[in-house]
Amino acid sequence: MQKRGIELVWPGKYDDGDPAEAARITLVPAERHGDPASENVLVHGDNLGAMTALLPAYEGTVDLVYIDPPFATNLRFFSQTNVGDGEIERDAYRDPGGNSMADYLSAMLPRLRLIHRLLAPEGKLFLHCDWRANALLRVVLDEIFGPESFRNEIAWRRAPNLGRQAASRQLGRVLDTIFVYSKRPGALFRGEAPRKSTPVALDRSGKPKGARWDELAQCFFTTAPRGDYTDKSIAELRTKNRVYDSSAGKVYIKYFLRKDDAGRWVKDQPVDTLWDDYDVRPLRHRPKGEEMGYDTQKPEGLLERIIGWATRPGDRVADFYAGSGTTLAVAEAMGRRWIGSDVGRPAIDIIRRRLLARPTPASFVLVTADNPNHSSDITIAPPAVEVALHREGEGLRLELTGLACAARPLRGRATALAWPEQIESWMVDWDFGDVLAPSFVAHRAAGGTSALTTPTMPRTQAGRIAKVVVHTVYGDTATRIVPLTEAR
Ligand SMILES: C[S@@+](CC[C@H](N)C(=O)[O-])C[C@H]1O[C@@H](n2cnc3c(N)ncnc32)[C@H](O)[C@@H]1O
Repeated sequence: MQKRGIELVWPGKYDDGDPAEAARITLVPAERHGDPASENVLVHGDNLGAMTALLPAYEGTVDLVYIDPPFATNLRFFSQTNVGDGEIERDAYRDPGGNSMADYLSAMLPRLRLIHRLLAPEGKLFLHCDWRANALLRVVLDEIFGPESFRNEIAWRRAPNLGRQAASRQLGRVLDTIFVYSKRPGALFRGEAPRKSTPVALDRSGKPKGARWDELAQCFFTTAPRGDYTDKSIAELRTKNRVYDSSAGKVYIKYFLRKDDAGRWVKDQPVDTLWDDYDVRPLRHRPKGEEMGYDTQKPEGLLERIIGWATRPGDRVADFYAGSGTTLAVAEAMGRRWIGSDVGRPAIDIIRRRLLARPTPASFVLVTADNPNHSSDITIAPPAVEVALHREGEGLRLELTGLACAARPLRGRATALAWPEQIESWMVDWDFGDVLAPSFVAHRAAGGTSALTTPTMPRTQAGRIAKVVVHTVYGDTATRIVPLTEAR
């Protein structure tokens, strides 16, 4: 590593050995969803080993990495699943950093170095953190990327200044920091420069306040003084109907309003480094349905802005602390290829569901470390699932007929869950080889149950063995191998 003028040193930084090498794991495909040619990868495992294993194939190929790692809080975080009128809470992850900032930085340093290697020459890193570690992470990023590769420090309003925040004896800590670095200093942002839309209040007549109507454009506009526009620029703007001449002979610039999807008049403006506008509002103010029940989940609007700015369709986006999969879901929706990883089983379950429940389910391969001891769940005897195989003319149909599952605490509901209510999702691979490639996936409907039978599968499309995998609301998995030969 090139030595620079200023360096942050902490106890343990120069301990012997390369932690990335020590964490090396072999990645084994476990599930293949959708198009087998898809390049999207989801890794269930510690990202240190995962990134080391991904390096030979992906070094220098990732256009954008967004990470939202633990913030050194020393807190525990949970995922919540609503089941009818009850709720099941699972341990999602523990933020390991709060005990010692030295340990936190020792964990972040090799991971950030790997991210730097995975980035394409023009690639960008967006690192999301907060007041606890941002000052230190900035120095570490300067060391890895070089201070000349620093591009922006974005302040994102993660919460309104209400409740505990506002009542504390200091100013509400309502901002997160997002550092932006490019691998090459000055590398261009490949996408569209972000713009924000601000709703404009209406006056008593229902017209946007302070706006005028433009006959030519058939649209409202607001105005601003010409500022430092030269006469030449004004002449050019005039040809585009962007200049307003006041009755007093003064020249103003026109800013056209637009109606957004909700039918409100909004003003579009370039975005600066303070992100507190409607498009990136906190999750609690986003449309219902986006909420995945995962503590620390970020809003899709935030990722839409980042991905849209830093990448183009077809580019590769990665998030190695994927959580509920916000980055991956948005990358998928925006036509980018993606790589994700998370160490927690609840996160992987939520990501799988989020990506497969889309109107067009995502295609991806789920790979796991060969050593599966990374689950944050307490080991409980795996549940057993009962299935019935039905012959339907020339076809076959599988039906779930029972699930024996150790019950866990259920908040807010007196009665235990009936077995169909315990199914979070289930899938069937009708021609099971070594990797699960389900052609049938069913999810529990919000607060209800899933379908308990597959559609009829033409016998010609089924192989010799079917594999049934059931994920329960408690986070465990039941599998069943069903020989199909006797059903011929
Ligand atoms: C703050 S959350 C990310 C939330 C995510 N941005 C979202 O919108 O849902 C951090 C995630 O990092 C994961 N994580 C923590 N340490 C990890 C590690 N060493 N390797 C992989 N994932 C890790 C946790 O399990 C957790 O899901």
